[in-house]
This record gives sequence, C-alpha cells and structure tokens, in this order.
Amino acid sequence: MATITSQVDELISHMTPAEKAAQLTQYFYFRLPPDAEVEPALHVDRDAQPKAVESALQAGGVGSLLFVTDPAEINRLQRMAVEGNRLGIPLIFGFDVIHGLRTILPVPIAMAASWDLETIERGQAVAAREARAVGIHWAFAPMVDIARDPRWGRIIEGAGEDPYLGAAVAVAQVRGFQGSELGTPDRIIAGPKHFAGYGAALGGRDYDEVNLSDSELWNVYFPPFQAAIDAGAGNVMTAYMDLNGVPGTGNRWLFTEVLRNTWGFDGFVVSDANAVRNLLTHGFAADLTDAGARAINAGVDMEMAMTDPAYERLAEALESGAASQEAVDASVRRVLEAKLRMGLFDAPYVDEDRAREVLADPAHRDVARVAAERSAVLLRNDGGLLPLDADGLGSIAVIGPLADSKRDTIGPWVFDFDLDETVTVLEGIRVKVGDQVRVDYARGIPVVQRVFPSMFDMFGRNRPEDPEGFDEDAEFQRAVDLARESDLAVVVLGEWQNMIGEAASRSSLELPGRQEELLQAVVETGTPVVLLIMNGRPLDLRWAVDHVPAILDIWYPGTQGGTAVANLLFGEVSPGGKLPFTWPRTVGQVPIIYSQTYSHEPDNQGRRYWDEASTPLFPFGHGLSYGRFEYANLTLDKPKITSDETLTVSVEVSNTSDRPADEVVQLYIHQRYGSASRPVRELKGFRRINLAAGEASAVSFPLGPNERRYWCAANRDWVIESSIFDVWVGGDSTAQLTTTFEVEG
Ligand code: NOJ
Repeated sequence: MATITSQVDELISHMTPAEKAAQLTQYFYFRLPPDAEVEPALHVDRDAQPKAVESALQAGGVGSLLFVTDPAEINRLQRMAVEGNRLGIPLIFGFDVIHGLRTILPVPIAMAASWDLETIERGQAVAAREARAVGIHWAFAPMVDIARDPRWGRIIEGAGEDPYLGAAVAVAQVRGFQGSELGTPDRIIAGPKHFAGYGAALGGRDYDEVNLSDSELWNVYFPPFQAAIDAGAGNVMTAYMDLNGVPGTGNRWLFTEVLRNTWGFDGFVVSDANAVRNLLTHGFAADLTDAGARAINAGVDMEMAMTDPAYERLAEALESGAASQEAVDASVRRVLEAKLRMGLFDAPYVDEDRAREVLADPAHRDVARVAAERSAVLLRNDGGLLPLDADGLGSIAVIGPLADSKRDTIGPWVFDFDLDETVTVLEGIRVKVGDQVRVDYARGIPVVQRVFPSMFDMFGRNRPEDPEGFDEDAEFQRAVDLARESDLAVVVLGEWQNMIGEAASRSSLELPGRQEELLQAVVETGTPVVLLIMNGRPLDLRWAVDHVPAILDIWYPGTQGGTAVANLLFGEVSPGGKLPFTWPRTVGQVPIIYSQTYSHEPDNQGRRYWDEASTPLFPFGHGLSYGRFEYANLTLDKPKITSDETLTVSVEVSNTSDRPADEVVQLYIHQRYGSASRPVRELKGFRRINLAAGEASAVSFPLGPNERRYWCAANRDWVIESSIFDVWVGGDSTAQLTTTFEVEG
C-alpha cells in the first residue's frame, strides 16, 4: 500500500487539472450492430458517439470506459488511451456484469432465493473470471437496493425486501467478484449500487423520487451497503432519483458523511449513467459546470456519461473555485489507487486466446446449473404431484411461449450471451426423458409486446416474436388439445424478460396477455398440470393457487436453466429455495412486507382490506421441498443476558421423508417493548442445510448485540435495549416454534 500511495503521489504531482478531470471521466463506448434501432430517448448518435470517444481517448481525456466486452476491442481502445495520455495511465473498464458474462447465471433475485451464500459467491466468481479474461476490471454489481414494491422492475436485480438477507447476499457477491482483496487474479472490482434508496421509487416507477425516513434508511436500506463496504467493495454507484428532495448524485450527506466518514469507505464512487448531467433535469444545478462541481464536492469521484461529460469542465470549475481542489485530488487519488491495485499499470492488455478458453470453460456451466437448481422455489405441491416419475408417464405436453425461448430463459441485463448453448425448459425435459416419454410442444398464445420499446432493444435479440404465420386461435386450440391428450401438462408462464428490469416497471402484476386464459383452458381438460413461473417479481397467481396442484418458481434460470428445471421436475434434486420477498395476492396490496409493526387491531384477516384478505399469497421465506422437515427442541443457552452479551439459539431439524433434501432454517426475533415499536418479526439468522432421508441435525445461531441493535427515531441514534424478545425458528416467516429471552441492564 505504501508503494501504491507513493506512486499515486508521484503521478498526481505531475498532473494538470485537465489530466485530473480525464481520470474522473468514464464514457460509454457504444458500437451498436449496424441494424440496431436506437431508442430516441437515449440520445445516442450511433456513429458520432464512438468517434467522439476515440478522439477523447487519443487526446488523453478519458479515465474509464464501459460497455466493451470484446477483448480485441478492449486492447485496441486501451492502447489508444495508454498512448494518448502523457503519463501512460491505463483505462479501467467497467461493465454491467449482473448475472454472468458469457455463462449466464439465474437472475439476482433468483440467486438470493437460494439463500445459499456459497452458491452466490461461486456464481459471481465465475462471472468475474469471464469478465476479467476479456479485459473488464470492474462490475456495476451487486445491486443491493432493498425492493419492497414489485411494480419496480429492478426488484429482479436485488435480493428482495429484507435487510438481513440483503446484507448477507451482498457480502457473498462482493467476495465472489473481488476475492479476498482488490487485485486478486481472475477477479474484478465490485460496485454495490445504487446508493441509496433507489428501490423505494414512488409508485414503483423507475427513476421517480424516493422519500424515506431516517429510520428506514438506517434500519432497512443502508445495511446491505454497509455490509458490502465492510466486505471490501472497491466501488459504489450513485442513484438516479431524488432522495428526500436531494438528487442521489448530488447528495453530500450520502457520499461523504455516511459512506466515507461513518463507514470508512476508501474506494471510489461512480455516478450512474448521465446522472451528473441529470442534476440539471432535477432543477438542482444551474448548468453543466455547476453540476460537475456539485457532484465532485458531494464525493462522486467519477462521472459515467454518454457524451459531453460535466467533469470535462472540472478545470474550469476549479479555476472559478466552484469545485474544491481537495475534492478533485482526493477523487483522482481514489481512481488511480484502484487502477494500481488492480495491476493495470503492469498489465493493461489481455490475452485474447486465454479469453476464449476461459469463456468456454465447461466448469462455468456446471456452476450455472447448480445455481439454477438451488434457486428454484416450490410454491405449491398439492398431493405430491412433484417430483415426476418418468416410468409412469407416457406423454408430456409442454405449453407456453416461454417454455422454448432461449432469450427469455437467460433473463434481462445480459449482452454477451451465447444462445446456442442455452437450454430451454422444453429442451431440458426432452433430454431428461429421452425416448422414454413422448414430449410435445405448443406455444398456445402469442407473445405480448410492451407499450413502449425497451431500451435494450437496440442490442437486438431482445424483443419476443411469434413464429411466422402464427395463427392465434388455432394455436390456442392445439395447446388445449395437446394437454387433453397427454398424461401431464407442464405450462410455463410469466413475464417475457424485457418486461422486467431497468425502465420496466408495471402497474399490474397479472400474467401478461392470454396466459391465464390458456392456463384455465388447460386445467379444464382434467390433465394434471405443473405450472412453472418464469419471473423476477411476484405475479398475481390467485387463480393458479386455487386450481393448479404444483407450482414451481424457476425465475429466469440462465444458460443451464432447462437442464436444472428438468432435474428438479424429475426429482434428481429437491427444490430448496425460499422467497426473498412477501408475495402479494394482488397489486393492490403493494407494498406488503412481513416485518411490519403492530398497531390498532392487528388481526390481519378482515380488518384491513374489506375486499381482499390482508395476508399475502405466500409469506416471505416460503418454499416447499420434496423432503419433509420437522423442527423441535428450540433452546437457548441462557434465558437472560445483559445488553452486550450474546446467546445461542439451537433447534433440531429433521427430514422425516425418504429422500435427501435441503431446508433453509430461518430465525426471526421480535423486541416486545422499547423506545420505538419494532417489527413483528425480523430475520436475524438463516442457514441452508442438506439432510439425508431420516436425518436430524442440530442447528444453532448466535444472537448478539448486532442482531438486537437498531436506529431509533425517538433517540435519533442507535440503541440496544433491555426488553423481552420473542424468537421463532422454522422454514418461513410464519414459523410457529417459539421461545423468549430477556435482556436486562
Ligand atoms: C443505468 C443503471 O441504472 C445502472 O445500474 C447501470 O450500471 C448503468 N446504467 C450502466 O449500464
């Protein structure tokens, strides 16, 4: 570190204000396919944009690029940068490595649903290895925004509603991306985003304003960020929206007071794309120079921009005194430090042959398959319809456009995928049963289009399409007939992948298009139905839950999705995932969370909405198994402790079924009284375990001051209080096995 500090000192001492500004400027490099349709709202001039960036590179005006994934291109642009600046400072390449680069893992909300920190870490390590091999040094991930409103499309990118689960998943992802420290071979910088509160957009409308109390910020929205920082994350990204009236990207309190002064973050902060320029849109900055000055003074080290960056004007802002010299130097220092720690000065270029080898590594596909198996959530399994027994089946009807769509199987936020190696549900089932069972397929219904195009359409292969000559009515009938003639129907429904993600919020949670109608018609044939849900948010499944015996949430399961789903359907592995969010019955219940507080007449049934139950369709933490688990002997090593002590909660979990299976053991607490009302339940421990048939195991959790501490709006500070605490342990957030302990003094 001492040498890095002196190298940075040495470099900074030679840098002009313009050279400093260059290091703080990150450009998109947008070379689109020639036939790409460019979304006008993005203001991308497809030819001018890359040309402008290349001139800026040659003039030494760029510190970082994003959106290049081809190693040859990366080397070419890197050379341009290294030769283009007087001090030979290399670029740092960033990219949205959200759930894989070439090997696509299940989407992040699915990974969180595995509640399996090792699988999550291993998955992001694969993503990092592929990214690093092509020359990417830094992921704009993990997204650790708490999301409690499924109308918000970006719920898919995070770990759901809960700060404890969110923090644990954030740490696993940071470790996966970065390894033990910045500069670990085959790893890249992790950039938790979007600091902070982005998930609470008004009405679930992406980018719209957020108003959150201090109590919600400290207790709910901040913990995953703090955990990611404590795990060593090297970067943080800002958020687009106003937080309590101040734009996320101009918020000094967030970046300087909380992030650096309170949490000791020593990495660099990047703005979200064009978010510094947006300080004008917000009605916050007077002009572009002011926007740059306000962002840098707030602690935003690097600006991400498509064109005409505000930070290009930092020299001017320094001269007028609007931008602080100290802030600019501190930012340059942080960026150079990251480049040095990543070893970029010694090895700015990548080996293109090695990149090809790494991307083709079959071990990566295995990691993706296991992740898909472990993230699926069995929502319902009435009468034990699942697992299927191929020996007892003559024919299977696979139904629904999503069942055989490679593009939808891998989900949104991927660019560099290989569809040839993606396995759909239909393909997975066919391979699994071979010649033993007849498998027929019908799409049943046409695809559904969004009311405005997705911004990702310009990358191609994003918009769903019907096959040529598609006859809607005939196809519907064909699907129903097929179901009637088959021994079993596997119906795959959900949202097309372009219906969720960034700029993909919804005002409804219904299954788009004629999907429910198709499901109803198939169910009416009397053939047993297994429903597979492809989604990144909860959907309105009220009808399905009352009429379909088996429902498995497979999310967007990634490259190996179909293989994993077939393994789950035929019982090679048992589903063990659990919901990382409360699943509402209808959009009208949104937001609905398990960790609410008690108030007048808390009886949930009938006392809140008169037209719908006030309970969710599925509780947070819900997920069934082919195994059967029993919980007993909930004990505490001490019934009473002082406020700085830790006690141990133990429970015995047994698998009373005749097959091995995983269970996620969950621990919840409630503080009965204190200086503020506390949530009726809060997750404070979990562990995913595997139990053989008939096996029992003791599981224990520590409960210490950290688990009891909270930020109290009455005291406007952190407190750890004397009180009586309830404890529950079980397989979801409605666990019944309970005990209490007392904290005194
Ligand atoms: C905007 C998104 O909000 C952010 O998450 C992403 O990393 C950047 N665009 C770059 O693609």
